[in-house]
Amino acid sequence: MKIITKKIKSKFSIHAKLLILPNIFSIKMTLSDNVPLKDFNTFGIEAKAVIFAELHAFPEIQDFLDIMRFREDPLLILGGGSNILFTKDFKGIVVKISTKGIRKISETDDHVFVQVQAGEVWDDFVNYCLSMDYGGIENLALIPGNVGSCPIQNIGAYGVEVKDTIDSVEMVNIHNLQMSELSNSECRFAYRDSIFKHELKGKVIITSVIFKLTKKHTLHHHYGSIQDELKKLGINDPGIKDIARAVTNIRQCKLPDPKVIGNAGSFFKNPSLSEINFSKLKYSYPLIPSYKQGDGTYKIPAGWLIEHCGWKGFRDGDAGVHANQALVLVNYGSANGQQIIELAKKIQQSISEKFGIGLEMEVNIY
Ligand code: EPU
Repeated sequence: MKIITKKIKSKFSIHAKLLILPNIFSIKMTLSDNVPLKDFNTFGIEAKAVIFAELHAFPEIQDFLDIMRFREDPLLILGGGSNILFTKDFKGIVVKISTKGIRKISETDDHVFVQVQAGEVWDDFVNYCLSMDYGGIENLALIPGNVGSCPIQNIGAYGVEVKDTIDSVEMVNIHNLQMSELSNSECRFAYRDSIFKHELKGKVIITSVIFKLTKKHTLHHHYGSIQDELKKLGINDPGIKDIARAVTNIRQCKLPDPKVIGNAGSFFKNPSLSEINFSKLKYSYPLIPSYKQGDGTYKIPAGWLIEHCGWKGFRDGDAGVHANQALVLVNYGSANGQQIIELAKKIQQSISEKFGIGLEMEVNIY
């Protein structure tokens, strides 16, 4: 871990801080109380935050953390709110990071290094890269969420994971205000996983991500549905823009648009089975799809398991399972977080009974 010498400087003397503390609302940033969170989570769940702060620039993060050092309230750092399910009001402070900025830091003959502030919308960054002809994230087009959240669950789609393009992640420690930078290997990326979901959970705010993108591209279009889509589009020799277009078309066809139907993308992770457990399952279900992993285990699409337990297209009130992709739970309008989580638990139970597999939730539950 590289410590960045710039430690956030306290703006206030201890005495001034004590004066400020009783009135957290007096500082210059968007701070409000009892705020509805419906517009800040893509599931569209009605929940409230006791205090809500939206931080638009780095100095606001500094000021905010400086004050927070003297408060005990639970803190929830929110990016695009695209991987979260609120099951109740949040009895603490919800902080939305809305810092903006994309800047090229350096380049070689083959690569370009770009630093992106955490509050940039992920798909805006994908479009920026396409317009600059920077390659590496075209398969991740149209994924909802912000750049600052992408390393946390190591977003992935169509044969690519964001870890393949992340050089390093800059963050600030919530408790000692120390800024530091984690290299790619220090982030301990794995399938939908990283150090930010474990040791660093709730301890840091990711302030920016540094990407290593290609100038000479390696395309990833081996994924069956991308090949089919490119064929449909009549493209034989695709470039990065063509891949992004194919991915966009597939996603628009299979996945619900959160602006229209509330959802948080894949609700569950695809489970991994040992070779022996996989062969037993394959014996009973010869048509089960699977992907062999480098470590000899087999990944099974959770969507297939859910569909084969009869849940695809299921609806109970406004909570449901998407009709085109069983891995996605949806809120048709006024479902609350409890109804969604109850549905998720019933699905887990039936998968366990039928296939003997424990499905793990991918979405963060609060
Ligand atoms: N399948 C079914 N029924 C379904 C859904 C899937 O049978 O309802 C089976 C089919 O055999 C299909 C296979 O599952 O061919 C794979 O489906 P898909 O290509 O949609 O991929 P996935 O494994 O279900 C993962 C990611 C998605 C990502 C896609 C495409 C996870 C948890 N999900 O889904 O990510 O878009 O691959 O690469 O790994 C997300 O995280 O929000 C997300 C949408």
